[in-house]
Parts: sequence; structure tokens; C-alpha cells
Amino acid sequence: MPKVTVQTILAKKAAGQKITMLTAHDFPTARIVDEAGVDMVLVGDSLAMVVQGHENTIPVTMDQMVYHAGMAKRGIRNALLVGDMPFLSYQTGPEQAVLNAGRFLKEAGCEAVKLEGGINIAGQIKALVMADIPVIAHLGLTPQSVHRMGGYKVQGREECAAARLIEEARAVEEAGAFAVVLEAVPMELAKKITGALSIPTIGIGAGPHCDGQVLVLYDVIGMFERFLPKFAKRYANLQEEALKAVLAYKDEVEKGTFPSEEQSFR
Ligand code: KIV
Repeated sequence: MPKVTVQTILAKKAAGQKITMLTAHDFPTARIVDEAGVDMVLVGDSLAMVVQGHENTIPVTMDQMVYHAGMAKRGIRNALLVGDMPFLSYQTGPEQAVLNAGRFLKEAGCEAVKLEGGINIAGQIKALVMADIPVIAHLGLTPQSVHRMGGYKVQGREECAAARLIEEARAVEEAGAFAVVLEAVPMELAKKITGALSIPTIGIGAGPHCDGQVLVLYDVIGMFERFLPKFAKRYANLQEEALKAVLAYKDEVEKGTFPSEEQSFR
């Protein structure tokens, strides 16, 4: 499989081919996602919830994100590696955004960054693009805005909110983003945005008409038990399998059947 680049992602939209993206936060999970031939690996700030055990994505720091992105990088051969800008790593202005996004490229080997927001961060997107840092924007339900939104709710249901979202999508394209994640928006609205943009839309809870899809890997493989969003799909239950394995190990140690001769030296 050839190396995926930003150009590959744009070409897929032009050719009407679906784009795939999953999160990975370390070496073994990035290896699995890359080996499956998924186009993009996102080191998402969902790290805060699914790995660190926080209630929301706000606590994860830039240092922690860079550390995890570096681990993921070592598991990747072909996928495009995207670092997710954590809360307060870009909100204060373009200079802060460039310096922090630059860390993803310099210290972890990322090839693009993602940041939440639209018109409010158009300046940051422009500055990143000027610094040759490819950008994916993130609109709709933006988890870092959980306190403003009053929870994780579908966005763009009312007519004026839908019109605003279309405007935001046009603004991030104009600012230079090469793709945009649409999270938890009605599927007809996502279809309209997808048709209105020349850059790809990557949906998560945005229906089937987006140019691509992204999910949190731990939801897909059943490694996050706290809740499963309506839009996610669990394709395996590794948590259950892992628990069975650990229980069997404990049982065998307690009974004295592990280690057997096979696992012992003469
Ligand atoms: O942090 C994350 O994992 C994300 C995606 C699920 C889009 O932002």
C-alpha cells in the first residue's frame, strides 16, 4: 500500500472514494489501524477519556498528546498521522497554534493537525497553513465546548444553526483546511455541507453521505465500557475477552496449574 498523504485524501474525494479514519493513542493500536489500511490515524484528544479516564477531553495536555502521538508514529507505515490540538493549545491565537502544532510535526512526526472550531479559529487555520502545517477542522459537536453546549448534543437541528454550520464549513475551507470533521449533525445537513465543499467531510455521527468516517478505536473494539455513543458501532468486545483471559490466569495461578512444565526451564 502506498503512503497516504494529504494529496491522497483530496484525490479520494475527487474520485468519489470513501475516506477512513480511526483514533489510535499508542504503538500497538496504531499498528493495527495502519495494518488494516485505514487512511488516517488520529491521535485524538479522546485520549483524555478513553485512556486517561477523565470525564471529558478538557484535561489532556499538549505534552501528553505529543508523547502519545510519538508512540502512534512508531506503529505506522502508510497512514497519515494527525495530531489533535488539545484544549487551550490554540484558542489564544495564531502564534500559540503554530508553536503547538509545530510540536506535533517536529517531536512526534505527525503530518497534519486537527482543531475544533470554525469562524472563531479561521485565523489560526490560516497561520498553520502559512507555516505548511496541514489542517483538519472540526465542526458540529465540538467536545472541548462541552460546558458552552451544556452536554454532548446533536448540533445544527434548528434552521438558523444549520445555516450557521454551512457558513462555518465554508469559512474553514476558505481558511485553508484540507478536510473537516463533522460531529453529531443531522445527516441531511452533513450531505448538504459535503456537496457544498471541495474539501472532504469526515463524519462521526453525521450519517452516510460524508466523504469519509471516523470513530474512536476503543468504541470500535470494545475497550471503553463507560458508554457507547448512538453513532458508534462496536465490532468486537476486547474488554470482555481480556477479562476472561485475566480471570483464567488468576484461576490457574491460584490452583497451581500455571506455570506448567511447558513454561518452565530445566
Ligand atoms: O478526539 C477524538 O478522538 C476526535 C474524533 C473522534 C473525531 O476528535
